[in-house]
Amino acid sequence: MTATAPTRTEPLIHTRADFPLLGHEIDGHPIVYLDSASTSPKPQCVIDAVTRVYRDLTANVHRGVHALADEATAAYESARREIASFLNASPAEIVFTRNATEGINLVAHGLGLKPDDEIVLPALEHHANFLPWRIRARPVTIGLTEDGLPHYGDVEAALSSRTRLLALAHVSNTTGVVAPVERWVAAARSRGLPVLIDAAQSSSHLPIDVRALDCDFLVLSGHKMLGPSGIGVLYGKRERLEELDVYQTGGGMVRYHGDDRFEVQDVPLRFEAGTPNIEGAIGLAAAVDYLRSLGMEAVHEHSQELGRHLVEGLRAIRGVRIVADSAPLEDRIGLAAFGLEAPGLSEESVARLLCDRYHVLVSGGYHCAHILHHRLNLQGSVRVSTHVFNTHEEIDVVLSALEEIARW
Ligand code: ALA
Repeated sequence: MTATAPTRTEPLIHTRADFPLLGHEIDGHPIVYLDSASTSPKPQCVIDAVTRVYRDLTANVHRGVHALADEATAAYESARREIASFLNASPAEIVFTRNATEGINLVAHGLGLKPDDEIVLPALEHHANFLPWRIRARPVTIGLTEDGLPHYGDVEAALSSRTRLLALAHVSNTTGVVAPVERWVAAARSRGLPVLIDAAQSSSHLPIDVRALDCDFLVLSGHKMLGPSGIGVLYGKRERLEELDVYQTGGGMVRYHGDDRFEVQDVPLRFEAGTPNIEGAIGLAAAVDYLRSLGMEAVHEHSQELGRHLVEGLRAIRGVRIVADSAPLEDRIGLAAFGLEAPGLSEESVARLLCDRYHVLVSGGYHCAHILHHRLNLQGSVRVSTHVFNTHEEIDVVLSALEEIARW
């Protein structure tokens, strides 16, 4: 297979100019960035928003009594409103965290779980949506098909009188397949249980409306959705957030602290102890604004189309075993992980070779989903993941490189 000039209409092709990282070269060759599931490049507007905070807006939020502090607080709270509107939530339901992982840990801690409590989750979940439950309670896992797709329909049978919560990734970071979250929410509703959705891989690939989904909690990470690192969001229905024990204590989360007692702030501020990542929140709002300007429906179509092209191309390469290959193409985003029979080369070495020889950046390894790989008897996988700026031509470059490697 040879790389071809894009012949199809690629409606988001203009976005390439917005990402300075795409001009980066390795050994004089431009990079092909296909690792956004790990972390995504940032558009110039996000870089500008963060730079502006350092240059013009450095002041603490919710503490200062001067004009710059007022301005910083207004920008920080405006970021919260922007993100609330993106998810169709209300600002009081948006907690700024470090990342999706911290949001899940916050909920797992806040529920006051006991060792006999049960959390129902698919066996393929990322460490972040597995270990916080596992160290506090008993995970009840939903099994996988031979190619790694969860038997999502088994959820009702997994519920018991000890179930405290259902947790699942909206899109798995390893399969790239959109989960039937509506079914899980319905199962949770029928028992009055809460459900948490890990939207780390979905929040910048498809439209999300938390009211329509009717989920209780949803987490996301800024750095995977074109925003800065070190900022994430926990959405929680207000009454669910109010039921949680506080996660961390410190300045900003208390309203009153006397010798005899202390009083916490209302949600969401009671979950934001210490000086928050102000520039991160403002940068994330810029990323959200950018995504909205492209239109989340268009972003989703682009992601689906790249996923389709990638999977169809991978299927044609000898020795490739795609994780969750049986999933319908329309249920995928632009992400696929696969094993590759290449004598003497582990999946990690294939990923390294793609970089060193072809200047294509992908992930290689277990992608924080060990149990999934163990069950598939895979010593890791290569993962190709796209974002708004990727093209068919770039997918052809990686496919052509993999074909060559498979023929070695
Ligand atoms: N969670 C990130 C990934 O899937 C790091 O690669």
